[in-house]
Amino acid sequence: MPRFLNAEQIDHWERYGYAVLSDFVAPAVVGALRARVDEIVSKYVEEGVPDGAATVFSTTEQTHAQDTWFLESADVVRPFFENGAFDSNGHQVVPMELALNKLGHAIHDLDPVFGPFSRNDAMAALADDLGFVEPLLLQSMVIFKPPRIGSEVVCHCDHSFLWTEPQTVVGFWFALDNATVENGCMWAIPGGHTKGPRTRFRKVGHGTTTDLIDETPYDMGDLVPLEVEAGTCIAFHGCLPHWSAPNTSDQPRLAYTLHLIDGTAEYLSDNWLQRSSNLPLRGFGPLPEAR
Ligand code: FE2
Repeated sequence: MPRFLNAEQIDHWERYGYAVLSDFVAPAVVGALRARVDEIVSKYVEEGVPDGAATVFSTTEQTHAQDTWFLESADVVRPFFENGAFDSNGHQVVPMELALNKLGHAIHDLDPVFGPFSRNDAMAALADDLGFVEPLLLQSMVIFKPPRIGSEVVCHCDHSFLWTEPQTVVGFWFALDNATVENGCMWAIPGGHTKGPRTRFRKVGHGTTTDLIDETPYDMGDLVPLEVEAGTCIAFHGCLPHWSAPNTSDQPRLAYTLHLIDGTAEYLSDNWLQRSSNLPLRGFGPLPEAR
């Protein structure tokens, strides 16, 4: 099979833990994905948000960690909100387009637009180039990062949250807006993937806990901004430390992310994200007819 990535991109991936693929998504497809997000947001405005959605999502405080809204979102498409989107009585206090933090976590399996996009040939070829043997599409998110309100995502690596033995998780991050330092683009520590994860976030009982593996803090001075244009895909290794700042601009910074694991590895039973038997994980192939 001819390689999708060129030698330079493969070298960059191995050396630095990520690859920036400009023009990965055609402008018309970016437009279709953005239109689909607008449609979902409009539905929330017209019909109201689902029961329980006043839950606040904040990775800075991790107050969501004990929340069943989060823990039970593995096989649904569910909205999560910015801090301050609701008052103490659960009333929404900012407009919907500024209130949403993200949608998660089974958009790739359930959405009529993001589903086919997540299983296109380029995606499968990219996974193949990155060494996947039995790729499984584990989770997906639409990340809003609204202007002036979009919050920080603290420096972390995704393996800490989606642990397999051995480590296999890889993230694909798609810019649906131009991402800049001002509107909260991704930052990463080049080469940081060669060091192990500092923490492990896992389920314990009905809640969660974070195990400290290495207490050395990330050196935030090592982070470099990954400013990219809409349509770019950034593929990043599961051990790559990454971070994004609050959106301090007047511009939105919409993104879509997809995380893959390899079915040849063991997905730990105390990871927070556990699919029900109604929606088993799938690779890039078509839906089996038996289902
Ligand atoms: Fe992440």
